[in-house]
Amino acid sequence: MIGMGGSGLFKRVEIPPPPDNTPLPTAKPYGIGKPPFEAVSSVGCSSAACHGGGKLDTKFSEYSTWAATAFSGKLYDPHSTAYRVLFNEDSVRIGKLMGMKEPHKEALCLKCHATEGVKPAEAVSEGVGCASCHGPAEKWISVHMLPEWKALSNQSKFTDYGFVPTKNLVARVSNCTTCHVGDADREVNHDLIAAGHPRLSFEYTRYQFNPKYRHHWDEVLPQPDFEVRAWTVGQAATLRAAIDLLRVRAERAAGNDPKTTWPEFSGLSCFACHQTVGGEVPSNTGTVTRPLGVPAWELWSNSAAGVAAALCPQALPGTTSPDLWELAALRKLMQKTRPDPKAVAIRAKRAVAELDAWLAELQASEDKTTTRLPADAPRKFAHALSINALSMDRTKLRDYDWDALTANYLGTAAMYHASGGKEFVPKWTDPIRGLMADLEYPPRKAGERFDSPAGFGKTKRDLVRDRFRELFDVTADPGAKP
Ligand code: HEC
Ligand code: HEC
Ligand code: HEC
Ligand code: HEC
Repeated sequence: MIGMGGSGLFKRVEIPPPPDNTPLPTAKPYGIGKPPFEAVSSVGCSSAACHGGGKLDTKFSEYSTWAATAFSGKLYDPHSTAYRVLFNEDSVRIGKLMGMKEPHKEALCLKCHATEGVKPAEAVSEGVGCASCHGPAEKWISVHMLPEWKALSNQSKFTDYGFVPTKNLVARVSNCTTCHVGDADREVNHDLIAAGHPRLSFEYTRYQFNPKYRHHWDEVLPQPDFEVRAWTVGQAATLRAAIDLLRVRAERAAGNDPKTTWPEFSGLSCFACHQTVGGEVPSNTGTVTRPLGVPAWELWSNSAAGVAAALCPQALPGTTSPDLWELAALRKLMQKTRPDPKAVAIRAKRAVAELDAWLAELQASEDKTTTRLPADAPRKFAHALSINALSMDRTKLRDYDWDALTANYLGTAAMYHASGGKEFVPKWTDPIRGLMADLEYPPRKAGERFDSPAGFGKTKRDLVRDRFRELFDVTADPGAKP
């Protein structure tokens, strides 16, 4: 089981990492990777008889809903404006600092802010269009409405036709991560961040339920099942994407690629480097010990994933908790002052295979499970997350880094939302809202170029610890003997 630093919920004995030649699982989920087909521009989906019906938020009007910025400036799909962003003040400044003349013509920016594979003359200006999430439609556009289509397996829809079966959460979220985490072909590295690009910090349920995001679909699965599963799958898929990106960077660094910084700062704890020297005396620094002077690696995607791994059978029936030994070994490698890129590349590749096997299991469960989850499933997850955030005796935080705390908080917030919020779990409301207030970025001051939680210090950390303790109490099993 993975945990942070070996204490808390996922305590385990230290064992040496498995040797590099241990056979790995071979199971792989469908829906990951780029299908080798041509993309069709969104305009090709927009006829009134197909997805351009013009009645927002209804079936057969998905194109209209996606494109609806003209109707409502407040509630719209940010993907349809993703290309336009490349002309704004922030993009122009990023471009200047990166030595680019026109960001809207840069392949780097277009990879994530436009629909890849669609010819510029056709529709680069459409932003992130249908093909970006549903797959290149060359082969499936003419058949996906036929009765025979329904009879195909998801695997075949993906492999033979290049259609991403987004109803399955593993395929869906893995696809979001290509842009929201990055992949071999596109990344937001520390250079881009330092030039002013927002840091990528994806958490699926947070993005799915972003109040400004106008969806063009309704979920088939009812709550709380949907969100408990979506959070669990989101953890696994985001972690897999982050580690595959690490693998790519490590392979490049091992091959002495002059354009690769190693280790890449955007995969390390921002707050390990960006803090005021000589500022507040560190205290309440948590019980996780890390070698001094080594910034923690990927806390964003690692910190709550152990809870998803431990509790996945409670979200997706028929699955088993993975051991994730390769990941534990990788984490150890990344705690060295200068991790050896060759060793990291090998271990990361193995960790991806291990995570793929886990994702394949989650995916299969999702495709066949029809049983509803017990009503208190979210409570169990929220409880486990509060344990995960605290030290064994719950007098301290386990890890005081903002990323680790926020990863745990976002999980509890998803569970609160899944449970129906204030009306159904009123006792969670105070700690959840308190956590949000304490972890939220303070408003940007005049002249500041970046949103950041700078100033997140002891006072806030103490409050956060108290909130997690409160949450631990209110999410305890009501039937358990004290
Ligand atoms: C790996 C994919 C990726 C690449 C490469 C990328 N972006 Fe982004 N960009 C994103 C994502 C995802 C967001 C949304 C971030 C969020 O809110 O979580 C974003 C957000 C932005 C924003 C803020 C959006 C807003 O509404 O204010 C700007 C500006 C921006 N990108 C400009 C650029 C420019 C300019 C480039 C090229 C130099 C670039 N991006 C390259 C994925 C990418
Ligand atoms: C950012 C990713 C994304 C983009 C871009 C996107 N979709 Fe979707 N779409 C989804 C997700 C996620 C679902 C929900 C799962 C599902 O039903 O497959 C969905 C669902 C759908 C559905 C099924 C709706 C239902 O009620 O069953 C249709 C049809 C659809 N999208 C068409 C489109 C069209 C047409 C476009 C382009 C205008 C588009 N989508 C762009 C992610 C996206
Ligand atoms: C092809 C790349 C790409 C894919 C795939 C993609 N996105 Fe995005 N997404 C972006 C970019 C670029 C932005 C920034 C657009 C802007 O600011 O206008 C963005 C913005 C968003 C935002 C708004 C974020 C904010 O802070 O306001 C949400 C929410 C979001 N995406 C959710 C998703 C989800 C959920 C999926 C998968 C179903 C997904 N995206 C798939 C590129 C992508
Ligand atoms: C290993 C140390 C290290 C890590 C980790 C790191 N940075 Fe940096 N960062 C730096 C250094 C050094 C600079 C350059 C400082 C300067 O020139 O003012 C910098 C510059 C920046 C800048 C530009 C600041 C300015 O005023 O122009 C931003 C923004 C930034 N980093 C954000 C981040 C974010 C977000 C993360 C986490 C995803 C991160 N950094 C991780 C060391 C780091």
